Amino acid sequence: MIVNTELEQKGNLFPSEIINYKKDIDTLQFTTKNNVVLQVTVVRDSVIRFRYSTTGKFENDFSYGVTIHASRGYHFLDVTEDEKHYIITTSKLICKVERLSLQVSLFDALDLKLINQDEIGFHWEESYEYGGDIVKMSKACQKAESYYGLGDKPVDVNLKGKRFENWATDSYAFGKNTDPIYKAIPFYTALHDNKSYGIFFDNTFKTSFDFAHERRNVTSFWAQGGEMNYYFMYGPKMEDVVKNYTDLTGKPHALPPLWALGFHQCKWSYYPEANVKEVTNTFRDLKIPCDAIYLDIDYMDDFRCFTWNKDYFPDPKKMVKELKDDGFKTVVIIDPGIKIDLEYDVFKEGLDKDYFCKRADGPYMKGKVWPGECYFPDYTKPEVRDWWAGLFKELIEDIGVKGVWNDMNEPAVMDVPNKSFPDDVRHDYDGNPCSHRKAHNIYGTQMARATYHGLKKYAYPKRPFVITRSAYSGAQRYTSTWMGDNVATWEHLAIANNQAQRMSMSGFSFAGSDIGGFAEQPHGELFARWIQLGIFHAFCRVHSSGDHGDQEPWVFGEEITDIVRKFVELRYQLLPYLYTAFWNYINDGTPILKSLVLYDQEDSATYYRSDEFIYGEQILVCPIQEPNAKGRRMYIPRGKWYNFWTDELVEGGKEMWVDAALESMPIFIKEGAVIPKYPVQQYVGEKKFDDITLDVYYKEGKESSKLYDDAHDGYDYKKGRFSLRTFTVTGKKEQLIIQQHKRGDFNADYNKFHIVFHNLPFSITSIQIDNVEVPIDNFNTGKKQSILIDKEFNELHLVGK
Ligand code: GLC
Repeated sequence: MIVNTELEQKGNLFPSEIINYKKDIDTLQFTTKNNVVLQVTVVRDSVIRFRYSTTGKFENDFSYGVTIHASRGYHFLDVTEDEKHYIITTSKLICKVERLSLQVSLFDALDLKLINQDEIGFHWEESYEYGGDIVKMSKACQKAESYYGLGDKPVDVNLKGKRFENWATDSYAFGKNTDPIYKAIPFYTALHDNKSYGIFFDNTFKTSFDFAHERRNVTSFWAQGGEMNYYFMYGPKMEDVVKNYTDLTGKPHALPPLWALGFHQCKWSYYPEANVKEVTNTFRDLKIPCDAIYLDIDYMDDFRCFTWNKDYFPDPKKMVKELKDDGFKTVVIIDPGIKIDLEYDVFKEGLDKDYFCKRADGPYMKGKVWPGECYFPDYTKPEVRDWWAGLFKELIEDIGVKGVWNDMNEPAVMDVPNKSFPDDVRHDYDGNPCSHRKAHNIYGTQMARATYHGLKKYAYPKRPFVITRSAYSGAQRYTSTWMGDNVATWEHLAIANNQAQRMSMSGFSFAGSDIGGFAEQPHGELFARWIQLGIFHAFCRVHSSGDHGDQEPWVFGEEITDIVRKFVELRYQLLPYLYTAFWNYINDGTPILKSLVLYDQEDSATYYRSDEFIYGEQILVCPIQEPNAKGRRMYIPRGKWYNFWTDELVEGGKEMWVDAALESMPIFIKEGAVIPKYPVQQYVGEKKFDDITLDVYYKEGKESSKLYDDAHDGYDYKKGRFSLRTFTVTGKKEQLIIQQHKRGDFNADYNKFHIVFHNLPFSITSIQIDNVEVPIDNFNTGKKQSILIDKEFNELHLVGK
């Protein structure tokens, strides 16, 4: 027997002094006496990659997380040396590498202030059990530094003082602080001295993050295998850190079809067909807008993916068409577990083609999920992803299904203690064969990716819509996501709020939770409050396990139905605003939701705020998260804000009480904003309208707002058929000027803007449109001051006294 005392006693190992340095264009390589190599690659002036090897040799450089579309290139790069360091300078950063220890410190290139510094820096432990290393990084936690991000963690927004693990886990009825849950997003942003930076630890093994939890002055991260391989991203604005990260790991490949930003109704499960129709008909009868209806696992024949239970759904194509005619898009669930059944063609083909995951010694990875014993496709193999994509032909092209919901893709396995595959399962990892230890966290993303490619192909020329439960960094390129099996409690409403903010700060804005809670049943008040929050999440879906009762908007009585309708209508009115925010996200990575710290990092009062957030650029939202509330205290960020309901102007930078009885909630609009609104529709595209509303909130000073539009589906927008309008509002004591700047060749159906003015401090004496005086009686001075004008106006000038 080999006794491993020597290896076990080695403990933490450290790099020794640098004995060799070479530079190859953007990459510097430092080798130490004990054969540790540090590769420093300047990706952009503000993005530097650090990669360490303990053997002198690197692994094949392959990443599922980093996109090939990531921006690369820098304005300036210079390397100098002093007695103690190698010094790498870009236009944004100065990075010093210590000769004796390989420790790194980073400074702002403009004001030379310290941003981030290794504490003991890179170190490692040899893994006797698996080979390779447990790779570790310890960094100094600066005075008053705080931390954000990390994906779906169900905790308050600021992560300081906490420790987390990233290992995608099926977590039915998880609770506050449960860790890990469904996703693995090893990215955080940090903030101190008004400077923000981010770290993306691109390692798909189980990773851990400790934010000054174990030691007050140290923040560290480590992985159970693979390389210490991280990207350092500098702001100094937090929003720019998030944009850099999103650029690196990818923006969604396409805008979602606009209907996907509508309201979605789901349950486990609506069946048979008559039940589905009853639900969709009730939406229409009660005039609650809705765009998507979901079929959970019971639509299948004994849970066999890509089949239908013909007793429940005798003619799916006909049903899907009828739903479509009524404005409903059908979304169906597809899980990774393929039932072991030689009579089932998907199974048979997967088996014949050798597409299922296998254990280390050759047997198939057999696990129990909804269909009973299953095999699981190895989505980390390109050929398997192609096959999987092809399986969607019938569902999408023939039957007309518009979206696919990928679940259980952590991957989840029932009746086993670790709820997933054993570690020894083998994966292709795109030609870099490995065990499940390395592929686990990426499995769900590769499934969603394959699904996305299927939908993209068969839905063409329409845009695909995919939703996934599990995700690793970069999954946002292919899919939307939800937070898994939450619970119908007030605490979970707050968790949903924090998770959506955190996902948005982690590059994944197209996210939302099961509204009302998946497990257990909400009472009406909780449901109404949750809808109020949910309409401000990019993905807005009611879902429930169904075994505790119904969760449609009308099951809680008339008062709640009316409140739900009112807020879902508000979502539909704000669709052009949300679509613009989505375009902004796709265009440059701007997160759709902004926690207050991300919105205004110069205001230290925001560092620990978890409830309030900015929706898009100019709407401040704060959900009510307690029963029997008539309002709440909340923090209003600096600047002036209008109460959405009363138009009352408040000065921010302070906490205040805001009234919000059950039929209301705290919503504020930034002064100077131009908020576009559609008329209420029961589903996207139901109506053609002659005009859309622009709500203009007076400001003394200047503010600009954007409105993006295109055909709401298809890809013509990529060829220039979009329209981007920028409205600049300039308010003076007795004047208001709105200038419009237009870009793109898309021409929407409507011809006019109905401009509604909020809080004009003067009465109108003259109106000019594009320098031409127009009769003052064009101006409606009723309850709402407004004017209807041609949408192509360049300048509207109001003068008053
Ligand atoms: C999982 C999903 C849930 C779904 C259920 C049945 O629990 O998280 O959303 O309804 O499986 O498919």
